[in-house]
Amino acid sequence: MQEKITSAEKTEKEKTSEAQIRPNTFVEFVGQAELKKQLQIFITAAKKRGEQLDHILFSGPPGLGKTTLAHIVAAELGVEIRATTGPVLERPGDLAAILTNLGEKDVLFIDEIHRLNQVVEETLYSAMEDFTIDVMIGEGVSARSVRLSLLPFTLIGATTRTGLISSPLRDRFGVINRLNFYPPETLTEIVLRSSRVLGIEIEHAGAVEIANRSRGTPRIANRILRRVRDYAQVMADGRITKDVVDSALEMLKIDEKGLDDLDRTILRVIIDDFAGGPVGVKTIAISVGEEVRTIEDVVEAYLIQIGFVKRTPQGRVATDAAREHLRRD
Ligand SMILES: Nc1ncnc2c1ncn2[C@@H]1O[C@H](COP(=O)(O)OP(=O)(O)OP(=O)(O)O)[C@@H](O)[C@H]1O
Ligand SMILES: [Mg+2]
Repeated sequence: MQEKITSAEKTEKEKTSEAQIRPNTFVEFVGQAELKKQLQIFITAAKKRGEQLDHILFSGPPGLGKTTLAHIVAAELGVEIRATTGPVLERPGDLAAILTNLGEKDVLFIDEIHRLNQVVEETLYSAMEDFTIDVMIGEGVSARSVRLSLLPFTLIGATTRTGLISSPLRDRFGVINRLNFYPPETLTEIVLRSSRVLGIEIEHAGAVEIANRSRGTPRIANRILRRVRDYAQVMADGRITKDVVDSALEMLKIDEKGLDDLDRTILRVIIDDFAGGPVGVKTIAISVGEEVRTIEDVVEAYLIQIGFVKRTPQGRVATDAAREHLRRD
């Protein structure tokens, strides 16, 4: 299957190659100045007091650096990090096994925390609040609940959907941070940094062009950079100039706003098939043959951000800016 280059979601191949360019410190982590400053203060304070850091929730669209930040926070705290994801924790026992193995003040990172099931989530409440968990031991009539105490730890949760986090869970985080799409100038810096790390020769204007077409998302910027590098090596002298970026992205059918065929198809469905909307996201998903979750998390978040789609109680509406953009195509 062809990899969708403008998808903010991680591909299998990237899981390995990402390790090379993933920032390991706050200094390497580009942008998000306020968020970094806040986190550094909390980390310094916790270390001074000799206590574990408060639980932190990172939310925001895929590919903006939630997982990266969780690892940086653990590194700056000088503790171990144990990473898992919501859907993997099927039973309270799965969670208990992880929690009882954490070292003092360690970080437990739960990705996709909005996908925890109810019983596991409830087990997490007491763990977060007073570092105890109740586990069932034995079966049938001899089953009994035992309270275990845990070493103090820091939970870092990540979610692409704050709206799906229950309020009892949300209330137990001391720090809640929302990551937003990155401005082009910051993405340009990220592209230049990744190029340095990967030993890619790139002109400033080439980096700017990649940044402009990366949907505000570092993961996409890095992915486009790799593709453009391939193109530059085969079709040019290896150096990434603005012209090389333009031709490479024309070949990859990514337009100057970073939209690809799927985005344009979605806009056309709303505009042509449903007279501009409102149309429900499920209907859109069926029309274009994608999952609702993909449409909401990956495609639509960005189309809304750039003002091409509006979310109304009746459904999605395409804007004049979207019509104008398609006309220029
Ligand atoms: N601020 C940044 N500076 C430099 N590189 C970044 C930054 N944020 C993210 N990246 C790069 O983008 C990649 C994706 O980031 P990350 O995996 O942390 O995103 P995420 O928010 O956890 O995504 P998902 O929701 O899909 O799990 C990282 O491997 C890293 O290389
Ligand atoms: Mg992640």
